[in-house]
Amino acid sequence: MCGIVGYIGKRDVAPLLLEGLQRLEYRGYDSAGVVVTSPKAPGLKMVKAKGRVRDLEAKIPARFKGTTGIAHTRWATHGAPSDVNAHPHMSADNKVAVVHNGIIDNAAELRRKLEAEGVEFLSETDTEVLTHLIARSTAEKLEDKVRQAVRMIEGTYGIAVLHADFPDRIVVARNGSPVVLGIGEKEMFVASDIAALVMHTRQIVTLDDGEMATLKADDFRTYTTEGTRTTSEPTTVEWEAESYDMGGHDTYMHKEIFEQADAVDRVLRGRIDDRFSTVHLGGLNLGAREARQIRRVKILGCGTSYHAGLIGAQMIEELARIPADAEPASEFRYRNAVVDPDTLYVAVSQSGETYDVLAAVQELKRKGARVFGVVNVVGSAIAREADAGIYVHAGPEVCVVSTKCFTNTTVAFALLALHLGRTRDLSVRDGKRIIEGLRRLPGQITEILKQEEQIKELAELYADARSMLFIGRVRGYPVAREASLKLKEVSYIHAEAYPASELKHGPLALIEPALPTVAIVPDDDLLEKNRAALEEIKAREGKILAVAHQHQEKADQTIVVPKNEDELDPILMGIPLQLLAYHTAKALGRDIDKPRNLAKSVTVE
Ligand code: F6R
Repeated sequence: MCGIVGYIGKRDVAPLLLEGLQRLEYRGYDSAGVVVTSPKAPGLKMVKAKGRVRDLEAKIPARFKGTTGIAHTRWATHGAPSDVNAHPHMSADNKVAVVHNGIIDNAAELRRKLEAEGVEFLSETDTEVLTHLIARSTAEKLEDKVRQAVRMIEGTYGIAVLHADFPDRIVVARNGSPVVLGIGEKEMFVASDIAALVMHTRQIVTLDDGEMATLKADDFRTYTTEGTRTTSEPTTVEWEAESYDMGGHDTYMHKEIFEQADAVDRVLRGRIDDRFSTVHLGGLNLGAREARQIRRVKILGCGTSYHAGLIGAQMIEELARIPADAEPASEFRYRNAVVDPDTLYVAVSQSGETYDVLAAVQELKRKGARVFGVVNVVGSAIAREADAGIYVHAGPEVCVVSTKCFTNTTVAFALLALHLGRTRDLSVRDGKRIIEGLRRLPGQITEILKQEEQIKELAELYADARSMLFIGRVRGYPVAREASLKLKEVSYIHAEAYPASELKHGPLALIEPALPTVAIVPDDDLLEKNRAALEEIKAREGKILAVAHQHQEKADQTIVVPKNEDELDPILMGIPLQLLAYHTAKALGRDIDKPRNLAKSVTVE
C-alpha cells in the first residue's frame, strides 16, 4: 500500500527521502512524489512521477535543495495512477502540501462543498480534499489548521503536512493508517513503516489512532485531534537496517524462505521451560487459573495469517483439548458474531496493521471480549490494541508474499497450545515430546531447504499447468490451503485447495492428466486414507506431486520432508511448497517480490 517518508533536520533532504521511498517499494505502489522546503529558503518545491521511485529521481532537478520534506509512494484508490494523482497534493497558493495513506470516505461530499465555494481541484484523489481544507483554515497555527481539517473527514488516514509559512515543522496525524516517528540527534524522521527509518534511528514513537504530532529538528510533541497533549516515550526497535538488504539473494522471497531456520530459533529462544515441560510466554499475562477458564479459542486473521491460524486451532484442540477454530477476520467483523466472555480471541497478523483484523479486534473489545495478538511487528496497531499476546519474532518480512512469518506464526501457536495444554491435561511426557519436536524444527528446515535443486526442477516441470489442485486431510488441509495461496499469488497459476476427504464429493470430476495435484501426505494415523486418495487420482490419470515423510508409490514425484511430532508436522510440510511457488514464478518470469495487484499490508477496507 502507499508509503510515507518525512524528514526535518540539517541534511540535504531529497536523496534521503528517495532512499526512504526505496525502502518502502516492497509495499507496492504506482507513482511517487516529493516536496521539500527549508527555513532558510521557505516555499515548497515539488516533483511527482507516475511509475517507480527511479522515475521520480530522474525528474528531480539539480537545484532541488531543502532540509525538510515529505515524500510518498501511491497505490491508486481514487483516480488512475498518474503524475497529477500522485502525492503530495499542493494547495492553489503553493503553500500546503499533504501526503496521505488511507481512504477518505466522505471525500465526494467534501469535494462538492469545496467546489461550490470556488475551489478548483487538480486531481481525482480523495487526498486533495484535505489539502484544500487545511489551506482554507483560518486558524493561526499549522497544528490547528490540520486538526480542524482531520476532524471534518471520515475514513482512515496517516498524513504528513508541510506548510510554506511554517518551514520549521512537519505535522502528522493518524487514524487507522500507521505513522511512526523516528527520533534522531537534532533531526526527526517520520514514516508509515519502520523499514524507512531503521537505517537512521532505532528510537521510534508509534502514533495511536486519533493522535497527531509536530516534528521540529530538535523536538517532537504528540497530542490528540482534540488538542490534548499525550505522552509518548520512544522505544528501541530491534530490527537491524541490514535485515532489509537482499543479502546476496535475487529476491526478498528467496531470502526470507532461507531465513526460516534462524527465525524459528528466535521465536523459541528463551521461552522453553524444561523443568515443567512447558513454555514461558511473558506477554500473555495469563495466570493458570484464568487459562483454565477459557472455554473456546477463536482465531482471526486474513490470508496467510488466517491459514497459520487454522493450523494453530488444530494444535490448540490437539494439545490443550480446548475447542478452537479460525475464521477470516474480514468475514467475522461483518457478521455480528456472538461474542462470548469465556472465549479467548486471538488476532493474527504479520504487519499488525491489517485493517480487517484491527476492525475485528476493536469490535470484539467493544463487546467486552478478551483479545490476544499473535503479531510480528512490535508496537503495531493490533499489538497495541490487543490485551496481551505473543510476538512471533520473524524479523522484517519485506516480500509481499508471506513465508517466514507464516512459519513463525505456526510455531508461536504451538507454544500457545503447549502452554494452554500444560495448564490442563497435557502430560509432562507429551509436553517434553512437543518441546523436543520444537527444538528439532530449525535443523529440519535446513534439511528441507537443501532440496532446492530438486524442487526447482519440479517447478519447471509443472510451470505450464493452467491450474493445480492442492489436497490435504485434517492436519494437511491448512497446509494445502496455504500452499495453494502461495502458488496463485506469486505465479498467477490458478490453484485450488480441497480436503482430501472431500475429493469424491465433487472435485474428482476435475481430475485428468492436465490438472496436477499436490498432495500433503504426512505419516500419521491418516496415512492409509491419504494413500487411497492418491489411488483415486491415479486411476483417473491425474499427475501427483506428494509432500510426504516417505516416498509415495502412487505419486509421480515425492518431496520427502523430515518427520517431526504429528502435531508439529504441518509447520514443516508447507516449506518445500513455498520454494515450489517461488521457482514456478521464476520460471514464468514473474515479479516475485511485488506480485500484481497485491500490497504488503492492507490498511484499508
Ligand atoms: C499472502 C499474504 C497475505 C497476508 C494478509 C494478512 O502471502 O501475505 O495473505 O497474510 O494480507 O496480512 P497480515 O498478516 O499483515 O495481517
